[in-house]
Amino acid sequence: MSTNTKYTSDELIAMESRYGAHNYHPLPVVLSRGEGVYVYDVEGKKYFDFLSAYSAVNQGHCHPKIIQALKDQAEKLTLTSRAFHSDQLGQYEKYACEFFGFDKLLPMNSGAEAVESAIKIARKYGYERRGIPDQEAKIIVAENNFHGRTTTIISFSNDEDARKNFGPYTKGFIKVAYDDLDALEEALKEDNVVAFLVEPIQGEAGVFVPQDGYLKGAAELCHKYETLFIADEIQTGIARTGRMLAVDHEGVHPDILILGKALSGGVYPVSAVLADDDIFDVLKPGQHGSTFGGNPLACAVAMAALEVVQEENLMENAEKLGNLFRSEIQKLVDSNDLVKLVRGKGLLNAIVINDTEDSSTAWDICVALKENGLLAKPTHGNIIRFAPPLVMTEEQMMECVKIITDTINNFTK
Ligand SMILES: Cc1ncc(COP(=O)(O)O)c(C=O)c1O
Repeated sequence: MSTNTKYTSDELIAMESRYGAHNYHPLPVVLSRGEGVYVYDVEGKKYFDFLSAYSAVNQGHCHPKIIQALKDQAEKLTLTSRAFHSDQLGQYEKYACEFFGFDKLLPMNSGAEAVESAIKIARKYGYERRGIPDQEAKIIVAENNFHGRTTTIISFSNDEDARKNFGPYTKGFIKVAYDDLDALEEALKEDNVVAFLVEPIQGEAGVFVPQDGYLKGAAELCHKYETLFIADEIQTGIARTGRMLAVDHEGVHPDILILGKALSGGVYPVSAVLADDDIFDVLKPGQHGSTFGGNPLACAVAMAALEVVQEENLMENAEKLGNLFRSEIQKLVDSNDLVKLVRGKGLLNAIVINDTEDSSTAWDICVALKENGLLAKPTHGNIIRFAPPLVMTEEQMMECVKIITDTINNFTK
Protein backbone atom coordinates (compact mmCIF):
# COMPACT_ATOMS: atom_id res chain seq x y z
CA MET A 1 0.00 0.00 0.00
CA SER A 2 1.48 3.35 -0.96
CA THR A 3 1.43 6.39 1.29
CA ASN A 4 1.14 10.06 0.56
CA THR A 5 4.66 10.83 1.80
CA LYS A 6 6.43 12.69 -0.99
CA TYR A 7 9.94 11.54 -0.04
CA THR A 8 11.64 8.13 -0.24
CA SER A 9 12.99 6.40 2.85
CA ASP A 10 16.57 7.27 1.85
CA GLU A 11 15.69 10.93 1.45
CA LEU A 12 13.95 11.05 4.83
CA ILE A 13 16.87 9.32 6.58
CA ALA A 14 19.26 11.82 4.97
CA MET A 15 17.02 14.70 6.16
CA GLU A 16 17.07 13.42 9.75
CA SER A 17 20.80 12.95 9.60
CA ARG A 18 21.33 16.48 8.30
CA TYR A 19 18.86 18.34 10.56
CA GLY A 20 18.42 16.16 13.64
CA ALA A 21 20.75 15.70 16.59
CA HIS A 22 22.48 12.32 16.33
CA ASN A 23 21.45 11.02 19.75
CA TYR A 24 19.90 7.81 18.37
CA HIS A 25 21.00 5.10 15.94
CA PRO A 26 17.75 3.80 14.40
CA LEU A 27 17.42 0.81 12.08
CA PRO A 28 17.25 2.05 8.49
CA VAL A 29 13.46 1.89 8.15
CA VAL A 30 11.11 4.87 7.82
CA LEU A 31 7.60 4.22 9.11
CA SER A 32 4.57 6.20 8.09
CA ARG A 33 1.61 4.13 9.29
CA GLY A 34 0.72 1.69 12.04
CA GLU A 35 -2.26 -0.53 12.77
CA GLY A 36 -2.42 -3.08 15.58
CA VAL A 37 0.73 -5.23 15.48
CA TYR A 38 1.78 -3.89 12.08
CA VAL A 39 3.72 -0.87 10.89
CA TYR A 40 4.26 0.22 7.27
CA ASP A 41 7.21 2.01 5.77
CA VAL A 42 7.13 4.90 3.33
CA GLU A 43 7.33 2.51 0.37
CA GLY A 44 4.32 0.58 1.74
CA LYS A 45 6.20 -2.49 3.05
CA LYS A 46 4.48 -4.12 6.05
CA TYR A 47 6.33 -5.23 9.20
CA PHE A 48 5.51 -6.85 12.50
CA ASP A 49 6.48 -4.36 15.20
CA PHE A 50 8.44 -6.41 17.72
CA LEU A 51 9.54 -3.47 19.88
CA SER A 52 6.28 -1.54 20.44
CA ALA A 53 8.19 1.71 20.98
CA TYR A 54 9.95 0.14 23.98
CA SER A 55 6.66 -1.25 25.35
CA ALA A 56 4.67 1.95 24.93
CA VAL A 57 2.34 0.56 22.26
CA ASN A 58 1.02 -2.39 24.28
CA GLN A 59 -2.52 -1.78 23.03
CA GLY A 60 -1.38 -1.88 19.37
CA HIS A 61 -0.78 0.95 16.93
CA CYS A 62 -3.54 3.53 16.53
CA HIS A 63 -6.03 1.60 18.63
CA PRO A 64 -9.45 2.84 17.42
CA LYS A 65 -10.86 3.42 20.91
CA ILE A 66 -7.82 5.37 22.09
CA ILE A 67 -7.63 7.41 18.89
CA GLN A 68 -11.35 8.18 19.18
CA ALA A 69 -10.82 9.42 22.75
CA LEU A 70 -7.93 11.56 21.50
CA LYS A 71 -10.01 13.05 18.67
CA ASP A 72 -13.07 13.69 20.81
CA GLN A 73 -11.06 15.41 23.51
CA ALA A 74 -8.89 17.33 21.01
CA GLU A 75 -12.01 18.97 19.63
CA LYS A 76 -13.11 20.11 23.09
CA LEU A 77 -10.16 21.13 25.23
CA THR A 78 -6.45 20.22 25.09
CA LEU A 79 -4.67 22.24 27.74
CA THR A 80 -5.63 24.32 30.72
CA SER A 81 -2.34 24.16 32.64
CA ARG A 82 -2.80 23.47 36.32
CA ALA A 83 -3.70 27.10 36.90
CA PHE A 84 -7.31 25.95 36.39
CA HIS A 85 -9.17 22.68 36.85
CA SER A 86 -10.32 20.60 33.90
CA ASP A 87 -13.31 18.25 33.75
CA GLN A 88 -10.96 15.37 32.80
CA LEU A 89 -8.22 15.46 35.44
CA GLY A 90 -10.20 14.44 38.52
CA GLN A 91 -11.99 11.70 36.61
CA TYR A 92 -8.69 10.30 35.32
CA GLU A 93 -7.01 10.48 38.74
CA LYS A 94 -9.95 8.67 40.36
CA TYR A 95 -10.00 6.05 37.62
CA ALA A 96 -6.25 5.37 37.74
CA CYS A 97 -6.06 5.38 41.57
CA GLU A 98 -8.85 2.82 41.79
CA PHE A 99 -7.33 0.84 38.93
CA PHE A 100 -3.93 0.49 40.63
CA GLY A 101 -5.03 0.71 44.27
CA PHE A 102 -3.44 3.96 45.49
CA ASP A 103 -4.82 7.08 47.21
CA LYS A 104 -3.35 9.64 44.86
CA LEU A 105 -1.71 10.20 41.49
CA LEU A 106 0.73 12.85 40.29
CA PRO A 107 0.39 13.36 36.52
CA MET A 108 3.52 13.92 34.46
CA ASN A 109 4.51 13.48 30.81
CA SER A 110 7.70 11.52 30.14
CA GLY A 111 9.00 8.53 32.04
CA ALA A 112 12.16 10.27 33.19
CA GLU A 113 10.08 13.14 34.50
CA ALA A 114 7.99 10.74 36.57
CA VAL A 115 11.16 9.11 37.97
CA GLU A 116 12.51 12.56 38.87
CA SER A 117 9.19 13.32 40.56
CA ALA A 118 9.34 10.11 42.59
CA ILE A 119 12.90 10.88 43.69
CA LYS A 120 11.86 14.36 44.84
CA ILE A 121 8.83 13.06 46.74
CA ALA A 122 10.83 10.29 48.42
CA ARG A 123 13.51 12.74 49.55
CA LYS A 124 10.96 15.24 50.86
CA TYR A 125 9.15 12.45 52.68
CA GLY A 126 12.47 11.44 54.25
CA TYR A 127 13.22 14.95 55.48
CA GLU A 128 9.73 15.80 56.70
CA ARG A 129 8.43 12.49 58.02
CA ARG A 130 11.54 10.59 58.96
CA GLY A 131 13.74 13.39 60.24
CA ILE A 132 16.62 12.83 57.82
CA PRO A 133 19.15 15.69 58.20
CA ASP A 134 19.04 18.30 55.43
CA GLN A 135 20.90 17.29 52.24
CA GLU A 136 21.68 13.81 53.58
CA ALA A 137 18.94 11.68 52.00
CA LYS A 138 20.15 8.62 50.09
CA ILE A 139 18.30 6.48 47.57
CA ILE A 140 19.42 2.93 46.78
CA VAL A 141 19.39 1.95 43.10
CA ALA A 142 20.46 -1.19 41.25
CA GLU A 143 23.55 -1.71 39.12
CA ASN A 144 22.78 -1.52 35.38
CA ASN A 145 19.53 0.33 36.02
CA PHE A 146 17.78 2.36 33.37
CA HIS A 147 15.42 5.05 34.61
CA GLY A 148 15.81 7.71 31.90
CA ARG A 149 18.34 10.32 30.94
CA THR A 150 17.98 13.50 33.00
CA THR A 151 21.04 14.84 34.79
CA THR A 152 20.04 13.32 38.13
CA ILE A 153 19.07 9.96 36.64
CA ILE A 154 22.30 9.53 34.67
CA SER A 155 24.15 10.33 37.88
CA PHE A 156 23.34 6.82 39.10
CA SER A 157 23.53 5.01 35.75
CA ASN A 158 26.31 2.56 34.77
CA ASP A 159 25.99 3.43 31.13
CA GLU A 160 29.08 5.43 30.21
CA ASP A 161 27.48 6.62 26.95
CA ALA A 162 24.67 8.15 28.96
CA ARG A 163 27.02 9.61 31.62
CA LYS A 164 30.31 10.68 30.13
CA ASN A 165 30.89 14.44 30.03
CA PHE A 166 27.42 15.24 31.39
CA GLY A 167 28.64 15.86 34.93
CA PRO A 168 28.78 17.19 37.60
CA TYR A 169 26.51 14.44 38.84
CA THR A 170 23.80 14.53 41.48
CA LYS A 171 24.77 13.07 44.85
CA GLY A 172 22.74 10.88 47.16
CA PHE A 173 22.55 7.48 45.47
CA ILE A 174 23.92 4.11 46.55
CA LYS A 175 24.28 1.41 43.90
CA VAL A 176 23.81 -2.26 44.80
CA ALA A 177 23.88 -5.42 42.70
CA TYR A 178 20.52 -6.23 41.10
CA ASP A 179 18.77 -9.38 42.26
CA ASP A 180 20.87 -9.54 45.43
CA LEU A 181 18.91 -9.20 48.68
CA ASP A 182 22.04 -9.39 50.87
CA ALA A 183 23.57 -6.43 49.05
CA LEU A 184 20.30 -4.54 49.41
CA GLU A 185 20.10 -5.23 53.14
CA GLU A 186 23.69 -4.05 53.68
CA ALA A 187 22.85 -0.77 51.95
CA LEU A 188 19.58 -0.39 53.86
CA LYS A 189 21.61 -0.46 57.09
CA GLU A 190 23.35 2.79 56.12
CA ASP A 191 22.12 6.02 57.69
CA ASN A 192 19.63 8.29 55.98
CA VAL A 193 18.36 5.90 53.31
CA VAL A 194 14.90 7.03 52.18
CA ALA A 195 14.07 4.70 49.30
CA PHE A 196 14.99 1.80 47.05
CA LEU A 197 14.25 2.52 43.40
CA VAL A 198 14.12 -0.55 41.15
CA GLU A 199 12.86 -1.96 37.86
CA PRO A 200 10.97 -5.22 38.47
CA ILE A 201 12.65 -6.54 35.31
CA GLN A 202 15.65 -4.65 33.92
CA GLY A 203 14.41 -3.99 30.39
CA GLU A 204 17.07 -1.76 28.86
CA ALA A 205 19.89 -3.71 30.46
CA GLY A 206 18.76 -6.72 28.40
CA VAL A 207 15.56 -8.06 29.97
CA PHE A 208 17.12 -9.36 33.18
CA VAL A 209 14.43 -11.14 35.17
CA PRO A 210 15.32 -11.41 38.87
CA GLN A 211 14.91 -14.68 40.74
CA ASP A 212 11.45 -15.49 42.08
CA GLY A 213 11.09 -13.88 45.49
CA TYR A 214 13.49 -10.98 44.85
CA LEU A 215 10.83 -8.30 44.59
CA LYS A 216 8.87 -9.61 47.55
CA GLY A 217 12.05 -9.91 49.59
CA ALA A 218 13.14 -6.41 48.59
CA ALA A 219 9.77 -4.91 49.54
CA GLU A 220 9.89 -6.71 52.91
CA LEU A 221 13.41 -5.47 53.60
CA CYS A 222 12.38 -1.93 52.72
CA HIS A 223 9.52 -2.13 55.22
CA LYS A 224 11.80 -3.63 57.87
CA TYR A 225 14.18 -0.66 57.50
CA GLU A 226 11.33 1.86 57.07
CA THR A 227 12.43 2.73 53.58
CA LEU A 228 10.16 3.41 50.61
CA PHE A 229 9.97 0.74 47.93
CA ILE A 230 9.69 2.49 44.56
CA ALA A 231 8.83 0.35 41.53
CA ASP A 232 9.68 1.82 38.14
CA GLU A 233 7.10 0.01 35.99
CA ILE A 234 7.45 2.37 33.04
CA GLN A 235 8.51 -0.52 30.79
CA THR A 236 7.16 -3.53 32.68
CA GLY A 237 3.75 -2.14 33.65
CA ILE A 238 0.34 -2.12 31.92
CA ALA A 239 0.08 -5.86 31.19
CA ARG A 240 3.45 -6.22 29.43
CA THR A 241 4.71 -9.10 31.59
CA GLY A 242 1.40 -10.97 31.86
CA ARG A 243 0.18 -9.10 34.96
CA MET A 244 -1.07 -5.53 35.20
CA LEU A 245 2.20 -4.71 36.97
CA ALA A 246 5.31 -6.89 37.06
CA VAL A 247 5.31 -6.64 40.89
CA ASP A 248 1.89 -8.37 40.83
CA HIS A 249 3.71 -11.63 40.02
CA GLU A 250 4.92 -11.56 43.63
CA GLY A 251 1.96 -9.86 45.26
CA VAL A 252 3.98 -6.72 46.02
CA HIS A 253 2.31 -3.35 46.49
CA PRO A 254 5.00 -0.67 46.10
CA ASP A 255 4.98 2.45 48.28
CA ILE A 256 5.51 4.49 45.14
CA LEU A 257 4.62 3.29 41.64
CA ILE A 258 5.98 4.95 38.50
CA LEU A 259 4.16 4.47 35.19
CA GLY A 260 4.66 5.83 31.67
CA LYS A 261 4.79 4.53 28.13
CA ALA A 262 1.70 2.26 27.68
CA LEU A 263 -0.30 4.32 30.15
CA SER A 264 -1.36 6.15 26.99
CA GLY A 265 -1.09 3.25 24.54
CA GLY A 266 1.81 5.08 22.94
CA VAL A 267 -0.57 7.72 21.67
CA TYR A 268 0.57 10.64 23.79
CA PRO A 269 3.29 11.24 26.43
CA VAL A 270 1.62 10.37 29.72
CA SER A 271 3.41 9.32 32.91
CA ALA A 272 2.38 9.16 36.53
CA VAL A 273 3.55 8.64 40.07
CA LEU A 274 1.11 6.88 42.40
CA ALA A 275 1.31 6.62 46.19
CA ASP A 276 -0.84 6.90 49.30
CA ASP A 277 -1.82 10.05 51.19
CA ASP A 278 0.86 9.82 53.88
CA ILE A 279 3.49 10.14 51.15
CA PHE A 280 1.80 12.68 48.88
CA ASP A 281 0.89 14.85 51.87
CA VAL A 282 4.44 16.25 51.79
CA LEU A 283 3.76 17.95 48.46
CA LYS A 284 2.27 21.44 48.60
CA PRO A 285 1.30 23.94 45.85
CA GLY A 286 4.26 25.33 43.97
CA GLN A 287 6.67 22.60 45.05
CA HIS A 288 6.40 20.50 41.88
CA GLY A 289 4.64 20.72 38.54
CA SER A 290 4.63 20.73 34.76
CA THR A 291 2.61 22.82 32.28
CA PHE A 292 1.43 19.79 30.33
CA GLY A 293 1.21 17.30 33.21
CA GLY A 294 -2.39 16.17 33.65
CA ASN A 295 -3.71 17.99 30.59
CA PRO A 296 -7.23 17.01 29.48
CA LEU A 297 -6.02 15.32 26.29
CA ALA A 298 -3.62 13.13 28.25
CA CYS A 299 -6.29 12.24 30.80
CA ALA A 300 -8.86 11.20 28.18
CA VAL A 301 -6.28 9.15 26.28
CA ALA A 302 -4.94 7.42 29.40
CA MET A 303 -8.43 6.42 30.61
CA ALA A 304 -9.21 4.89 27.19
CA ALA A 305 -5.81 3.16 27.12
CA LEU A 306 -6.39 1.51 30.51
CA GLU A 307 -9.91 0.47 29.52
CA VAL A 308 -8.55 -1.25 26.41
CA VAL A 309 -6.09 -3.27 28.50
CA GLN A 310 -8.97 -4.68 30.54
CA GLU A 311 -11.58 -5.02 27.82
CA GLU A 312 -9.21 -6.94 25.55
CA ASN A 313 -7.68 -9.15 28.27
CA LEU A 314 -4.17 -8.06 27.35
CA MET A 315 -2.64 -9.48 30.54
CA GLU A 316 -3.89 -12.96 29.74
CA ASN A 317 -2.80 -12.65 26.13
CA ALA A 318 0.69 -11.46 27.11
CA GLU A 319 1.09 -14.39 29.49
CA LYS A 320 -0.15 -16.97 26.97
CA LEU A 321 1.79 -15.66 23.97
CA GLY A 322 4.90 -15.09 26.08
CA ASN A 323 4.95 -18.75 27.10
CA LEU A 324 4.43 -19.77 23.49
CA PHE A 325 7.18 -17.44 22.27
CA ARG A 326 9.78 -18.67 24.76
CA SER A 327 9.02 -22.34 24.21
CA GLU A 328 9.22 -21.92 20.41
CA ILE A 329 12.42 -19.83 20.52
CA GLN A 330 13.94 -22.34 22.95
CA LYS A 331 13.86 -24.80 20.03
CA LEU A 332 16.03 -22.35 18.09
CA VAL A 333 18.38 -21.98 21.07
CA ASP A 334 18.70 -25.77 21.27
CA SER A 335 19.45 -26.16 17.58
CA ASN A 336 21.47 -23.08 16.59
CA ASP A 337 24.73 -22.04 18.29
CA LEU A 338 24.21 -18.44 17.26
CA VAL A 339 21.60 -17.97 19.99
CA LYS A 340 22.72 -18.55 23.58
CA LEU A 341 19.42 -18.21 25.42
CA VAL A 342 15.94 -16.75 25.51
CA ARG A 343 14.54 -15.12 28.66
CA GLY A 344 11.71 -12.90 29.76
CA LYS A 345 8.24 -12.72 31.21
CA GLY A 346 4.96 -12.27 29.36
CA LEU A 347 5.75 -10.44 26.15
CA LEU A 348 8.93 -8.76 27.40
CA ASN A 349 11.64 -11.10 26.15
CA ALA A 350 15.17 -11.14 24.79
CA ILE A 351 17.58 -13.48 23.11
CA VAL A 352 21.31 -13.36 23.74
CA ILE A 353 23.44 -13.75 20.63
CA ASN A 354 26.52 -15.90 20.91
CA ASP A 355 29.03 -13.19 20.12
CA THR A 356 30.98 -10.50 21.96
CA GLU A 357 29.09 -7.49 23.31
CA ASP A 358 30.94 -5.15 20.97
CA SER A 359 30.22 -7.23 17.85
CA SER A 360 27.70 -6.06 15.25
CA THR A 361 26.05 -9.49 14.97
CA ALA A 362 22.85 -8.58 16.87
CA TRP A 363 22.50 -5.41 14.82
CA ASP A 364 23.08 -7.34 11.56
CA ILE A 365 20.45 -9.90 12.60
CA CYS A 366 17.98 -7.05 13.26
CA VAL A 367 18.69 -5.68 9.78
CA ALA A 368 18.04 -9.16 8.34
CA LEU A 369 14.82 -9.42 10.40
CA LYS A 370 13.75 -6.09 8.97
CA GLU A 371 14.31 -7.36 5.43
CA ASN A 372 12.08 -10.31 6.35
CA GLY A 373 9.29 -8.13 7.74
CA LEU A 374 9.90 -7.94 11.50
CA LEU A 375 11.28 -4.97 13.45
CA ALA A 376 13.36 -5.47 16.59
CA LYS A 377 16.36 -3.69 18.02
CA PRO A 378 19.51 -4.76 19.90
CA THR A 379 19.83 -3.57 23.46
CA HIS A 380 23.37 -3.59 24.77
CA GLY A 381 25.42 -5.19 22.03
CA ASN A 382 24.58 -8.84 21.73
CA ILE A 383 21.06 -8.86 23.18
CA ILE A 384 17.92 -8.47 21.05
CA ARG A 385 14.73 -7.44 22.84
CA PHE A 386 11.42 -8.85 21.58
CA ALA A 387 8.33 -6.95 22.77
CA PRO A 388 5.42 -6.96 20.31
CA PRO A 389 2.09 -5.22 20.99
CA LEU A 390 -0.04 -7.29 23.36
CA VAL A 391 -2.95 -7.42 20.89
CA MET A 392 -1.11 -10.04 18.82
CA THR A 393 -2.93 -13.28 17.92
CA GLU A 394 -1.48 -16.76 18.28
CA GLU A 395 -1.41 -17.15 14.53
CA GLN A 396 0.53 -13.90 14.11
CA MET A 397 2.94 -14.98 16.85
CA MET A 398 3.65 -18.25 15.05
CA GLU A 399 4.29 -16.29 11.87
CA CYS A 400 6.77 -14.11 13.79
CA VAL A 401 8.48 -17.14 15.36
CA LYS A 402 8.97 -18.50 11.84
CA ILE A 403 10.45 -15.20 10.60
CA ILE A 404 12.87 -15.07 13.56
CA THR A 405 13.82 -18.75 13.30
CA ASP A 406 14.32 -18.69 9.52
CA THR A 407 16.24 -15.42 9.63
CA ILE A 408 18.65 -16.65 12.28
CA ASN A 409 19.04 -20.09 10.70
CA ASN A 410 19.90 -18.45 7.37
CA PHE A 411 22.13 -15.78 8.92
CA THR A 412 25.81 -15.84 8.03
CA LYS A 413 28.27 -13.40 9.53
C1 LIG B 1 12.25 1.43 33.30
C2 LIG B 1 12.29 2.76 32.60
N1 LIG B 1 12.28 3.88 33.32
C3 LIG B 1 12.30 5.09 32.74
C4 LIG B 1 12.35 5.23 31.37
C5 LIG B 1 12.41 6.59 30.76
O1 LIG B 1 11.23 6.90 30.10
P1 LIG B 1 11.19 8.09 29.02
O2 LIG B 1 12.02 7.65 27.86
O3 LIG B 1 9.74 8.25 28.68
O4 LIG B 1 11.76 9.29 29.69
C6 LIG B 1 12.37 4.08 30.58
C7 LIG B 1 12.45 4.18 29.11
O5 LIG B 1 12.81 3.26 28.40
C8 LIG B 1 12.35 2.81 31.20
O6 LIG B 1 12.36 1.69 30.49
